[in-house]
Amino acid sequence: MQIRSAIRDLSASRIAEISALGMGDPTVVPLWYGEGDLPTPAFIADAASAALGAGHTFYTYKAGLPELRATIAEYQSGLYARPTGPERILVTSSAMTGLMLVSQTLIDAGDNLVIVAPVWPNITAAVSVMGGEPRLVALDPLPGGGWRLDIERLVAACDGRTRGIFVNSPSNPTGWVISSEEIGALLAVARDRGLWLIADEVYGRIVYGNRAAPSFLDQAEPEDRLIVVNSFSKSWAMTGWRLGWLTVPPDLHPQVEKLVEFNTSGSPTFLQHAGIVAIRDGEDFIAEFVARCRAARDVAIDALQACRRVTVARPAGAFYAFFRIDGVTDSLAFAKQALAQTKVGMAPGSAFGPMGEGYLRMCFARDPQVVADAVDRLRPLLEYPSP
Ligand SMILES: Cc1ncc(COP(=O)(O)O)c(C=O)c1O
Repeated sequence: MQIRSAIRDLSASRIAEISALGMGDPTVVPLWYGEGDLPTPAFIADAASAALGAGHTFYTYKAGLPELRATIAEYQSGLYARPTGPERILVTSSAMTGLMLVSQTLIDAGDNLVIVAPVWPNITAAVSVMGGEPRLVALDPLPGGGWRLDIERLVAACDGRTRGIFVNSPSNPTGWVISSEEIGALLAVARDRGLWLIADEVYGRIVYGNRAAPSFLDQAEPEDRLIVVNSFSKSWAMTGWRLGWLTVPPDLHPQVEKLVEFNTSGSPTFLQHAGIVAIRDGEDFIAEFVARCRAARDVAIDALQACRRVTVARPAGAFYAFFRIDGVTDSLAFAKQALAQTKVGMAPGSAFGPMGEGYLRMCFARDPQVVADAVDRLRPLLEYPSP
């Protein structure tokens, strides 16, 4: 079959490999994907129904409804230290589509993107689809769990074909959160070397302690070569809606807008109307959701830390426990074994890059009791066998 080699060579997701084994089995606790168990809040769903009823069913602006762009700009201006103007906002059909648009805009065949890893595998795939090289640079694992960014190593990985640096914070899968100082240092590097910075901040509101995680939007100038990727999926429980947005420099906006035309021709009009309501009225929901995740995080981490084979630190953001299991060298095989023996579905660490081998990722965006039961079931696998 004659198709592009870049597409033929894409490998299927290892997360999907596990979920395919347990999907549809009611006895399985599915903690493999990155989403919570709460449906979209009714006030957002009702706004979508009302928009449908009101006839918002036609083609619309490629860059997004002006009212939604203004709402997003105002939201970000209130959340971060520097204002965002609506001329920098592009509504996308999910963060995934946003990532693909970024890759289409920046990556020629043979270019590379330097990516802080372990990382959600779809990001590397978006670079590969364009014939580019995703160049993963590992966070340093700290002795008690936890992760540290080595900026010098990140910079050393850049060469003449590097188009930019990609950072996802709060991170899927590690829960690592970049500091304001590190953001400042990366901005300085990008300015100095003429590189793009791509910041995936889809978990920016899922942090434990503050209203939002440190953002590149706190420090960057509008003209900086910065693209921030965001989504309605995580903060407002809207994964199935496929709605997100990009924040870009004003002069990049028309370029990406052209690509929106040829990818999706704009996001569904009635969903965008509901997006306005989500942002405007969604703060109480976000606060409740994050409090629930926090309780589940503490249950998960306390229970995992009590297992002798496990090393894990309490993540500062996102909703994953990414834990190392002593002696595990094939996390995919371990995830399959755990699914078969305990009926707990988790993602293998190797799905997030070679540095994730030996780890498992458990999504804890659940009722804390469900998480407690899942770790209980797993416990025999996480202890050393008795002599
Ligand atoms: C880091 C990261 N970026 C982007 C996405 C995709 O979000 P969306 O549902 O808007 O495509 C995910 C989803 O898991 C994610 O973990």
